[in-house]
Amino acid sequence: MSAIGIDIDHAAKLLRKGEIVGIPTETVYGLAGNALDGDAVAKIFAAKERPAFDPLIVHIGHLSQLDLVAKEVPDSVKSMLEDLWPGPLTVVLPRQSVIPDITVSGHKKVAIRMPSQTMTLNLLRNLDFPLAAPSANPFGYISPTRAEHVTAQLGDRIPYVLDGGNCEVGIESTIIEPMGVDCNVLRLGGLELEKLTPYFNNFNTMLNKSSNPLAPGQLAKHYSPKKDITVFERKEEMPVNNSATYILFDSAIEGLPEKNQLMLSKKSDLNQAASNIFSFLRMADEMEGKEIFALKLPEVGLGLAINDRLHRAAAK
Ligand code: TXA
Ligand code: MG
Repeated sequence: MSAIGIDIDHAAKLLRKGEIVGIPTETVYGLAGNALDGDAVAKIFAAKERPAFDPLIVHIGHLSQLDLVAKEVPDSVKSMLEDLWPGPLTVVLPRQSVIPDITVSGHKKVAIRMPSQTMTLNLLRNLDFPLAAPSANPFGYISPTRAEHVTAQLGDRIPYVLDGGNCEVGIESTIIEPMGVDCNVLRLGGLELEKLTPYFNNFNTMLNKSSNPLAPGQLAKHYSPKKDITVFERKEEMPVNNSATYILFDSAIEGLPEKNQLMLSKKSDLNQAASNIFSFLRMADEMEGKEIFALKLPEVGLGLAINDRLHRAAAK
């Protein structure tokens, strides 16, 4: 079983030796290894049982590291990143040759982000290499938002998990590919698209492709609990069923036991809902209910990214 702790130096030591370590970020926990070391990256793929075609995100601690991993980065992109990093935004850019093929699954571009979680940002700033890190869950399952989620599933495969408590944002980063004045959106996530509108003229959303070679993480089925989950557009459509667990937004359904109903945010706050969604899916998976009924959230702000996760979790 891996140890859980707050020793950044210990995590750094393991990473320098080519080991892999669970790390907290503001979005979800990552499973990190030296992005420039193919052997360390291979350990990540093995521990997650992740298919080799699904590339990893490279995490950096300083903007000055950007040109070491990416090339031909336009000034306009750099100034956007000065505004929005550190934070839940990943950019896909042409890669430098120091990035081994395995990290990017052979793609010509690399996905990069600078996380804002304090411990992990300190860790990155103490290392002289960037960290490749996918979400620290077995491939296809719900992403972890607490250190215990990581050890529960991958504990026997990794030596250490750095404990940063609950992830503040709670869903993965937004992934974009800048295309001059336009922008391809490869994954909806923790940064609302509204925050990107000042930097681009047009947004081309490339989501919902069941086998999108550009963004394999967009697979139709992903983030899935073990139980069946059904997503409903409106509360009135939800069947009253005592053997189901309900995931709702801000209010309960009358006539159902309280203990079967999980409310994502009683104060109707989509940020709070995002930070709860994955741990509630896990809870629902472990509760008595035979299946899960989830209510779609309002299609604004982070509601869009949460609904995307719910639909993928429910895909057959
Ligand atoms: O918030 C996050 O982004 C978290 C934390 C740990 O940083 N990481 C994360 O990684 O969600 P992961 O591996 O679960 O999802 C990364 C997704 C891939 O599945 C793929 O869709 C996309 O990022 N991606 C990675 N490299 C890419 C590339 N070169 N081109 C296009 N998409 C890429
Ligand atoms: Mg993932």
